[in-house]
Amino acid sequence: MKIGILTGGGDCPGLNSVIRAIVRKAIMDNSQVIGFKNGWKGVLNNEMTMLDLDSVSGILPKGGTILGTSRTNPYKIEGGVAKVQATLQNNQIDALIAIGGEDTLGAANKLFKDGVHVVGVPKTIDNDLNATDYTFGYDTALNIAMECIDRLHTTAESHNRVIVAEVMGRHAGWIALEAGIAGGADIILIPEIPVDIERVCDLIKRRHSRGKTFSIVAVAEGAQLKDHDVTVNQSLDQFGHARLGGIGQTIGELIEKKTGFETRITVLGHIQRGGSPTAFDRVLGTRFGVKAYELVQQKKYGQMVSLKGRDIVSVSLQDAVGELKTVPLEFYQLAETFFG
Ligand code: F6P
Repeated sequence: MKIGILTGGGDCPGLNSVIRAIVRKAIMDNSQVIGFKNGWKGVLNNEMTMLDLDSVSGILPKGGTILGTSRTNPYKIEGGVAKVQATLQNNQIDALIAIGGEDTLGAANKLFKDGVHVVGVPKTIDNDLNATDYTFGYDTALNIAMECIDRLHTTAESHNRVIVAEVMGRHAGWIALEAGIAGGADIILIPEIPVDIERVCDLIKRRHSRGKTFSIVAVAEGAQLKDHDVTVNQSLDQFGHARLGGIGQTIGELIEKKTGFETRITVLGHIQRGGSPTAFDRVLGTRFGVKAYELVQQKKYGQMVSLKGRDIVSVSLQDAVGELKTVPLEFYQLAETFFG
């Protein structure tokens, strides 16, 4: 068999673990693997590289993706679907494995309906993809964010400051919530629950009235403050997403103004996406890669590999991209126990 693979959307730690696993498993089975460069862009432009044992040697602990990535949407390019089909046909590729989040896999799902033999692998540090308990990349981002919150504690305490830590999370607050719980943040703000700034300030004042001289606020970049637009750049990418940013700054300024406590803002940004994957993400990526190859072998196209409990299973791409997996209210309420 000849298989094509691509990595699309924002990069994340663990992508190389998946690539390595697919290539190792395929070569053991006498299959060939072609890596398309920069996501769907490489398929559209016929840009690829042959992947062999040498190309995947030593990449397991490496962050990012050896194939490169982009936010290219084949459905936003004139004749995009025909170009994808032509590339696969001209290179005699039997099936494609698309590794990505809701956007990359949303395109994969549409291509499947348009007759392309494709299987999906779920990745995103946001952990907001449906039909899988976890995406790889999330655990690494979560641990980085937690470590940053730990570090912010010592400096906030030394200076008697409030520090607002803005973490990633466009539509879902998983990183803010779990890094906030694990790092002992005093308030956590997520996109799913609109921010009530008066309540935030009251919680900080209550905490300081019991003798505490510092506070840490974890906020997801997509958190919504009434009457405030968190968009940094109005131009949308090919999947319709604007660039977010600025909510931490706004909340920090309001906290300082309303409470009188000196406040600083830290935006973690792409630090959360860079660097070496955790053991969890390396193992999950490896298991996903092997399973994705098996799905292709069994011609189970239109499917995505998924983690359910401790098992790797397959689900339909349609179920995975239908809607986002956001933070349930009960989980947020649990976190509220520790606010203030
Ligand atoms: O991949 C998901 C994500 O990291 C989001 O959390 C964030 O909003 C976005 O990507 C940032 O995208 P970019 O890398 O294009 O700045």
